[in-house]
Amino acid sequence: MLTAPDTTIRLSDVVSALSAALDLTEGQPMGHAIRSCLVGMRIAEEMQLSQQESSDLYYALLLKDAGCSTNSARMHQILGSDDIRAKREVKFEDWTRPSLSGLRYLLRNVLPGKSLLRRFVKSVVLGAEQKRNNAEVIGARCERGAEIARKIGLSENTAQAIRSLDEHWSGAGYPDHRQKEEIPLLSRIMNVSQTLEVFANGRSPAEAVQVISERSGRWFDPEIARIVRTFHDDDPLWEKFFSSEAREHVLRMEPGAAVTASQERVDNICDAFAGIIDAKSPYTYNHSLGVAAAAVEIAGGLGLSEQTVTFVRRAALLHDIGKLSVSNAILEKPGKLDEEEWDKMKMHPVYTKVIVQKISGFENMAFVAGAHHERLDGKGYPEGLSAEKLPLTARILCVADVYQALTEKRPYRESLPKNVVLGMMAKDSSTRLDSQCLDVLKQTNSSTDVAARQKAHAAGK
Ligand SMILES: [Fe+2]
Ligand SMILES: [Fe+2]
Repeated sequence: MLTAPDTTIRLSDVVSALSAALDLTEGQPMGHAIRSCLVGMRIAEEMQLSQQESSDLYYALLLKDAGCSTNSARMHQILGSDDIRAKREVKFEDWTRPSLSGLRYLLRNVLPGKSLLRRFVKSVVLGAEQKRNNAEVIGARCERGAEIARKIGLSENTAQAIRSLDEHWSGAGYPDHRQKEEIPLLSRIMNVSQTLEVFANGRSPAEAVQVISERSGRWFDPEIARIVRTFHDDDPLWEKFFSSEAREHVLRMEPGAAVTASQERVDNICDAFAGIIDAKSPYTYNHSLGVAAAAVEIAGGLGLSEQTVTFVRRAALLHDIGKLSVSNAILEKPGKLDEEEWDKMKMHPVYTKVIVQKISGFENMAFVAGAHHERLDGKGYPEGLSAEKLPLTARILCVADVYQALTEKRPYRESLPKNVVLGMMAKDSSTRLDSQCLDVLKQTNSSTDVAARQKAHAAGK
């Protein structure tokens, strides 16, 4: 049976690995947060920040986009388009000033496929409503990001740095329109670092340094912009930045002694990321938690060890982390997905596996989490694995996922009552879904609601 070894876990290992999912939600290539951290640590070195400040900054940079999924559905609703593409492209825009480039951005990202006139009218309306919309979508993201940092036990300085990430030196930022030194120093460094990363990786380091210079005194603290000007020929920095081992460099750069994560903290991180995943769409607001509750119920009912139950619960909490790569235009499409959309959807367990397996010692969990859409008859996805390749832990997750998904509402159907769901699943017993797992689920459902009992159990702890 596949379970996790009981080894010491480094907090930076877990957080830096999972940060790749936040990058995907923001439309960034995986590694964006890690590379932003590399740049931020270089600025911290130049500014001679204390070890504690550097450590607070380090974790704030890795988790700066923790609130990212909170506004995905709303952005999709406001623009009527692909939220991930819109988020990716806006990073290259100076949206504080009206410009031709900004108008082109709106025309590309507003109501794609509709007539030019409709797109133009909607773009003008959005231009007029920009401040209100920004306050709403950026505000929600900032608050949620800070909340997540606190939930996983990071310092209040780290939480506040994440909360003020999008403030601008001029006062034109969000959520509080703070100005100059009113903005936490760590947030000022982070804003420069993330912009530098986007332009250096997407265009070139020279262009990135140029953009920071141009926005100095408006977006950015002039002193930090001055420091960054010296980076254009900092070869060791860019070597690490463009290296395939950027994450290893970041792990080695952790300020002070490496922070280890207790088992309880790892659970809190998995819970927090489940919340990030579930917040992506109103249709999945409780999905990962519900799958975890059902998976624990099955694993417990099968008499598995406490260690295996913990393993299954964590795998369930993270199983859809790759869904953060899928646009809400697809997740919330009321009709059938076309081939291209379905191909993107089918990539989500692949991303789950890629992201989770970056954590040392989590390789087995990555396999199980990434196999949640596989079926015993080999007709699942993404790999079409058949029964002999699917260990019991993976089978538990497959059953728990189908069960929870069918009891939830989707854009194309209503939620289904549990007895109907179990009846439907019984038709796939042994052929597609593990019969032993299904039997346990049926028994545990015969008296009380699984999620409610799990909740009551958690509350009573
Ligand atoms: Fe899934
Ligand atoms: Fe799922």
